[in-house]
Amino acid sequence: MNSHADLLIKNIGLLATPTGSVPKAGAAQGQIETHENVCVAMGGGVFLGVGSEEQLRSFVDADTAVLDAGGCLATPGLVDAHTHLVFGGWRQHELGLKLHGVPYLDILKSGGGILSTVRATRAASLDELVGKGVGLLHTMLEHGTTTCEAKSGYGLSTEEEKKQLLAIRKLDDIQPVDLVATFMGAHALPEEYSDDREGYVRLLIEQMIPLVAKERLAEFCDIFCETGVFSAEESRRILTAAREHGLKTKIHADEIDAIGGAVLAGELPTHSAEHLIAADDEGLAAMARGGTIAVVLPATSFYLGKPFARVQDMMSLGIPVAVASDFNPGSSPNLSLQLPMNLACYQYKMTPEQVLTAVTLNAAAAIGRAETVGTVEPGKKADLVLWDAPDLDFIFYRYGNNQVRTVVKNGTVMIE
Ligand code: NIG
Ligand code: FE
Repeated sequence: MNSHADLLIKNIGLLATPTGSVPKAGAAQGQIETHENVCVAMGGGVFLGVGSEEQLRSFVDADTAVLDAGGCLATPGLVDAHTHLVFGGWRQHELGLKLHGVPYLDILKSGGGILSTVRATRAASLDELVGKGVGLLHTMLEHGTTTCEAKSGYGLSTEEEKKQLLAIRKLDDIQPVDLVATFMGAHALPEEYSDDREGYVRLLIEQMIPLVAKERLAEFCDIFCETGVFSAEESRRILTAAREHGLKTKIHADEIDAIGGAVLAGELPTHSAEHLIAADDEGLAAMARGGTIAVVLPATSFYLGKPFARVQDMMSLGIPVAVASDFNPGSSPNLSLQLPMNLACYQYKMTPEQVLTAVTLNAAAAIGRAETVGTVEPGKKADLVLWDAPDLDFIFYRYGNNQVRTVVKNGTVMIE
């Protein structure tokens, strides 16, 4: 490993980070390491060491840039493990329907919701999707997100899904936030297949999944397993095909109704299961047996006016829990992980330490990146957030404004 520090951040009042390269389950989820009055040295894009200025002296020379953190809190860069980042248009016209109590799935059934974003995404060019994505990712970075999962699922045809995945690939190349791509062609039944469910399932299995795998367009395959969208049986077929083609799997499970999504997630098992608002005891027990990571999305519960997932039960069962934004134009039009972090604390009753693990190490594990990001440890990517806060409780106690002061990505100060 490089021994020259390109950057030394000194005068960090409190560094709070999980450690280890596996997700921390249950009570261990809240066991983080803290260091008072420390410095962090980074070089070649990775962390070199944590310690006093004296302890890090061997890494530092005349070329080392020095940043004074002014005694504030530092954490690992945040990892957003669940977003629908790339799409055309927005859906502000649905706000009035929502205020009149029209349910989310009814809006979809009448050709709106996800299907309205499908029309707008198909109408957008690849360059337009990329241009919009650059702006969105910059806002995420300003709010502390340094790694982010991004799903397709607003194309719903081979060509249009590929366009979205190519936009994600391009975005990964041209801006600082690291992206992990997920294919989600099974996000809704496209209008042209409304009388031929089996035809679309076969298109996914026989054409889209093989193409995505062959061209390495995505690492994960996800599906919306929900009443009126894809059944548990269809989800099993599609995710099994994805796995046979070498894709890792995720599932939007039991978001609104418990239709067997969490049970399936535990049985296959999938790498992660997302939402889980309505997951029952059987589903959670299956996930615990299968070792499936739970990705919970409190900003979606908040925006849709739904209950909050049973996170205390998950943690008691030893299920690793990640918290993510679910950024998308329909059920969570919020780019910042800070709102979900506050909600996880207030509504799930997670401790600040448990939430920190949920948006760093466990989130990294949920997208297959626990070996490279999610903690401040020598050799991991030097992704660090400095907060306008003296300690960890402070960022959970305050809410509604951006509390991030400085963001370092791969050892370079990107936001200051
Ligand atoms: O995770 N639930 C399904 N998919 C997204 C919403 C997508 C949309 O409404 O555009 C979600 O909430
Ligand atoms: Fe989602």
